[in-house]
Amino acid sequence: MKIVALVVGATGIAGRGVSQELLEGGATVYGLSRKPEGLTPGVHHVAADLTKSESVNQAVAGLKPTHVYLTTWSRQANEEENIRVNAGAVRTLLAAVAPVRSVVHVALVTGLKHYLGPFDAYVKAGVMPPMPVREEQPRLDIPNFYYAQEDEVYAAAARDGFTWSVHRPHTIIGKAIGNAMNMGSTLAACAAICKETGRKFKFPGSAAQWNGLSDMTDSRVLGKQLVWASTHDVAKNEAFNIVNGDIFRWNWMWPRLAKWFGVEWEGFSGEIAPLETQMAGDASVWKRIVEKHGLVEPDLARVASAWHTDLDLGRPIEVMTDMAASRKRGFTVYQNTEEAFHSLFAQLRAEKVIP
Ligand SMILES: NC(=O)c1ccc[n+]([C@@H]2O[C@H](COP(=O)([O-])OP(=O)(O)OC[C@H]3O[C@@H](n4cnc5c(N)ncnc54)[C@H](OP(=O)(O)O)[C@@H]3O)[C@@H](O)[C@H]2O)c1
Repeated sequence: MKIVALVVGATGIAGRGVSQELLEGGATVYGLSRKPEGLTPGVHHVAADLTKSESVNQAVAGLKPTHVYLTTWSRQANEEENIRVNAGAVRTLLAAVAPVRSVVHVALVTGLKHYLGPFDAYVKAGVMPPMPVREEQPRLDIPNFYYAQEDEVYAAAARDGFTWSVHRPHTIIGKAIGNAMNMGSTLAACAAICKETGRKFKFPGSAAQWNGLSDMTDSRVLGKQLVWASTHDVAKNEAFNIVNGDIFRWNWMWPRLAKWFGVEWEGFSGEIAPLETQMAGDASVWKRIVEKHGLVEPDLARVASAWHTDLDLGRPIEVMTDMAASRKRGFTVYQNTEEAFHSLFAQLRAEKVIP
């Protein structure tokens, strides 16, 4: 079957990963977002605001997508608002494509907050899941926009007769500028600033994260799982965790990242040292670096999302991800995580985002 894909959130870190994978497989790809900046070349832009039904209805009129990839979210002040806005976006989009009856599969990207709890209650007392997190673990008894988005997909699937898959990545490594959560480009910008100022590249997180085991998700691996699940019967109507397939400790990874940038590093030294504090006065340093090296993005806040890196690396427990559900069904893609970072850094350098 020739895939006509609608990637919702196509300019984001997850959306770009699946867009690339779909294009390489020969699909026709439509990418929905408000702005076209950052769209993967070859993707047809569909401009719409998911918070406005008329905007979405107009934008998708005339499209006959066979596969829909929901890779969008928008951060709100609290989880109640996250649920209203992000479940609303899923409901609006699936209602807009329903009348043409062309959709055979909908894949939804959520994440490990499914197990760790939403931002309002992130790995706090009462939300300490056993590790590794496994697909069959029940939902936490706490409101979560991921659950609300899943429920919208399940309801629309029952109404419209398409199959679905849910994908839960750990922290994603990939390129996106101006997006909400990007650890790879945050660390790259931080290291570039350390190099410029002579500051040490200091691990911002907790003892548990420094010493414990961890894993991550390359956006290309996520993209491959989305395409696999949406095109294989064995994967229909299932939820899948998705990580690279290796495990590491930050006390092993951090010096390697520092070496790539040629900066001195410092590990966990007794207390958390948030990047938000470390980088608080760096906007002007970044502007200087951008001018000196002729870089493309002068606004540090569009390259670095310190709050999110702090949240992930500050977790009081180690976090690992079991891949049983897709491995048992034949999804065997592997990506070395150190190489995923290096490949992103090389891309950011080649595209003049970092020096
Ligand atoms: N980033 C990570 O490390 C990570 C890790 C695990 C799980 N996740 C999950 O993965 C999912 C996708 O997140 P992401 O990080 O890939 O997102 P992202 O990089 O922030 O991208 C969001 C995308 O959605 C679009 N968008 C946002 N608001 C919109 C609106 N009102 N109307 C239309 N388009 C809108 C954005 O483009 P415009 O702004 O131009 O509209 C962009 O294309 C989320 O559930 C997230 O929680 C992310």
